[in-house]
Amino acid sequence: MNKPMIIAHRGAKGMAPENTLASFQLGLSQGCEGIELDVQLTADEEIVVCHDMTLDRTTNGHGLIVEKTLTEIKTYDAGYWFGDEFKGEKIPTLDEVFDLVSENIMINVEVKHAYEGRMELKLIELLRRRNRLNQVIISSFDHKCIRRLKQMEPEARIGLLYQANLLDPVAYARSFDVEVYSLHPYYQLLDAEDVRKAKENNLYVYPYTANEEKDLLKLTEAGVSGIITDFPARLVSLLG
Ligand code: G3P
Ligand code: CA
Repeated sequence: MNKPMIIAHRGAKGMAPENTLASFQLGLSQGCEGIELDVQLTADEEIVVCHDMTLDRTTNGHGLIVEKTLTEIKTYDAGYWFGDEFKGEKIPTLDEVFDLVSENIMINVEVKHAYEGRMELKLIELLRRRNRLNQVIISSFDHKCIRRLKQMEPEARIGLLYQANLLDPVAYARSFDVEVYSLHPYYQLLDAEDVRKAKENNLYVYPYTANEEKDLLKLTEAGVSGIITDFPARLVSLLG
């Protein structure tokens, strides 16, 4: 059986504060082969790693990230709420994640918001500068955003995130006028036939976010290319 790539969701989110360097480091030490993270834009157009558009849920700050400069963002604590040992963790920039994560680890960058097209421009600029176009898959629920990105940078790899039960995900991906690299369905909607068809059509399949053993095994049996999970260590030990 094909072993799926083990992808740490927002790092090892189940055991460390999501989307922090500590969380990515933990996932790597547990043996993940890929990292999923979310990006936002600051007022001074730096790409930072955070799931929400606001600081409130995951830091001791308040308000919209896009209204703060990077210097301001760095004054907030993104780890204390998870446990004392994570006190002082900061929201990282994507640039800092590239410093930490070696090039053999896949990085799935999820664009949460396009910021009127500015996110695509900044992302392309960064991926080119850091020479990471071949390491990164850029996914989004905003399919127009990743289509624009691919039009601007043909070397970028784009993935379609979706939560709806699409009638024919492969036909949908093929209806794009740019090449789609991967499908990222909600894991409960995926069936083995969808996976078979996708792989036959050279599309990778990375379902999110499965954590229970039975689901991890089911997805592995269905032959998915990778599994996005909050507990990478669990998947490492299941796959042996
Ligand atoms: O990229 C897959 C998954 O992370 C999408 O949902 O809300 O966890 O970002 P969410
Ligand atoms: Ca995400």
